[in-house]
Amino acid sequence: MKGIILAGGAGTRLHPVTLAVSKQLLPIYDKPMIYYPLSVLMLGDIRDILIISTPEDQPLFQRLLGDGSELGLNLSYAVQPEPGGLPEAFIIGADHVGDDSIALILGDNIFYGPGLSGFLHDSRQTLDGCVLFGYRVSDPERYGVGEVDDDGRLVAIEEKPAHPRTDRAITGLYFFDNTALDIAKNLTPSARGELEITDVIRPYQREGRAKVIDLGRGFAWLDTGTHDSLLDAGQYVQVLERRQGVRIACIEEIALRRGFIDAEACYRRGAALPKSGYGQYVMEIATTETERR
Ligand code: G1P
Repeated sequence: MKGIILAGGAGTRLHPVTLAVSKQLLPIYDKPMIYYPLSVLMLGDIRDILIISTPEDQPLFQRLLGDGSELGLNLSYAVQPEPGGLPEAFIIGADHVGDDSIALILGDNIFYGPGLSGFLHDSRQTLDGCVLFGYRVSDPERYGVGEVDDDGRLVAIEEKPAHPRTDRAITGLYFFDNTALDIAKNLTPSARGELEITDVIRPYQREGRAKVIDLGRGFAWLDTGTHDSLLDAGQYVQVLERRQGVRIACIEEIALRRGFIDAEACYRRGAALPKSGYGQYVMEIATTETERR
């Protein structure tokens, strides 16, 4: 399975903050936003990842994450010149994906909660068509909205409906088989002038091959689309990290725990950031791991 992080978009709702820098590079408390979706893919053992950004931001993402080898990943980069919709990820990423299956995650979606790693592994193993992740929200009209039957199959999906029939948003993490590439190639733009992910999903839904996993109420799927929600997300992470003394979405820790890198490589990553609490945390977990052995 190949991963794609879509980190394009103009971030206009966050202007002037995003006039000069990509939204997905803004901090969510102690780390750049893209660490969060990257962590999700890593928790699913997806190591071959394409990062799609605007042409202007691409060098910044590369400066931040490099080729991924320090994390035991294989990261590559591509550009989306104009924000033309999520399915462009499949057109831009076709060579990266080849004939493999795909995990697409939006660079501004933050997932945190129990069982995430299990959901990801189960979805990968049982993938037949596509797997989506549903989450109850108070404002479903802002999202793709899904109707699901008792077996967890998607029976209808609409993009930003004025009158949503359910309160279940379809979040920005999607697993697809390779057919998604062909579906995306043949789409036409919606009324808002973009290709829509819901139009990629609908053929699967019609065939009864779109499964929805509900992220329960103990789960956090956080919005980062406005100044307030961005700050809220940062404070959510701050509260949990300070209370528990652990770091959320620490990519070095995940790489270490999942065996992508050894403790020495992890330590080196932390030692490169010695003055930050983040760097010290990375050194600490590496040292603890070395002592445990
Ligand atoms: C996009 C998708 C929508 C999905 C949302 C999740 O919305 O089109 O279906 O629910 O991401 O973040 P957009 O970011 O274009 O508003």
